[in-house]
Amino acid sequence: MLLSNGVVFFFFSIPFAAVACNSESPSDRRRSSFVVITVKSDRRTDGDLSKRASHLLAGEAAACMDDANAIEVTGVVPASTLNRIDLSCSDIQQSVSLLKQACLDSGFFYVINHGISQDLMEEVFVQSRRFFGLPLSEKMKLLRNEKHLGYTPLFDEVLDAGNQIQGDYKEGYYIGAEVPEDDPDAQRSHFGPNLWPSEDILPRWRQAMEKFGSQALKVAKVAARIIALALDLEADFFDKPEILGEPIATLRLLHYEGLVSDPSKGIYGAGAHSDFNFITLLATDDVPGLQICKKKDAKSPMWEFVQPMRGAFIVNLGVMLERWSNCIFRSTLHRVIGNGQERYSIAYFLKPNHDCLIECLPTCMSEENPPKFPPVQCQTYLSQRFKDTHADLNVYRTEGA
Ligand code: OGA
Ligand code: NI
Repeated sequence: MLLSNGVVFFFFSIPFAAVACNSESPSDRRRSSFVVITVKSDRRTDGDLSKRASHLLAGEAAACMDDANAIEVTGVVPASTLNRIDLSCSDIQQSVSLLKQACLDSGFFYVINHGISQDLMEEVFVQSRRFFGLPLSEKMKLLRNEKHLGYTPLFDEVLDAGNQIQGDYKEGYYIGAEVPEDDPDAQRSHFGPNLWPSEDILPRWRQAMEKFGSQALKVAKVAARIIALALDLEADFFDKPEILGEPIATLRLLHYEGLVSDPSKGIYGAGAHSDFNFITLLATDDVPGLQICKKKDAKSPMWEFVQPMRGAFIVNLGVMLERWSNCIFRSTLHRVIGNGQERYSIAYFLKPNHDCLIECLPTCMSEENPPKFPPVQCQTYLSQRFKDTHADLNVYRTEGA
């Protein structure tokens, strides 16, 4: 309904997700959210989005998606609607188009039928619970080292220092690529030897994590191929030895205490942030908590929940891909809000090789749309972001003394 002042009001129900080759029931597919939206300008429609996307990919537009398109959302959207990319789907064009739409819109999507068995996913959650259930003194024996491997206690990370009174209300465990001690690469940050809990205390723990990590890498690489196609690149663009030849790939177990977050008091499970990496695969338990904010610069930014989806990965784009794509693909702000229930999640962060230079892709720039960022080396960028967001290890040395 178009009102005379140019403001359009509509109440509608949106499909839970756009679906390609999926196997869920029609009722599942039609699960809807109740949305009230006030649109100040009707310049952007779905049709425009795809037109704009192709212009952007041809390098014809100058602005990031966070632009002045003047769509002001004043309603409440309890759950975001994310596209599902089905990795078992043989129609690659359909997957590319769903993924591209998601990357332009929110930088978040689900990946389903990815080939990792439900049993293995559940096993990793079971093992994660067992680890976090150990006494703090045991966990502190595996405190993270200078290479960012190992246990991160409560408040170790502060993702949104400007708005948090304490650090994130979560504990975590970083596992990097395992490299033998005598290998020169073992000196590099995020590379092993990892810190592993002893087999006596947590039998089969390491085995489960290594198995999951190697399968998650395969899934992430398949996603990277679809992303390459969505950016008008060759499918194997990111597979080059100098990009994902020896990637920094980190598995991180996360445990959120059963605390109720209070944004007005600066208390969060995880503060608002964009991931520092290329892409993240996230598996969560059934407890909701993850929220995304598509318009962080709006007057009153709106946060939407991302529904947990059993067996699926929630995939989000990191800042490195945003830089590569000259802001065409979005790395969206997100946070975790505690609702009083304990919550576990498993994140798999994929970054390129340490020495990889992240610079604007040829398909994402033109004379009118020059690169927005200077090239940056992956390890330089990462080490700065880790320094900004993690406690100084000396804090623990003092505490232990
Ligand atoms: C992260 C993250 C979300 C979650 O670790 O970067 O955003 O649900 N985690 O744990
Ligand atoms: Ni994140």
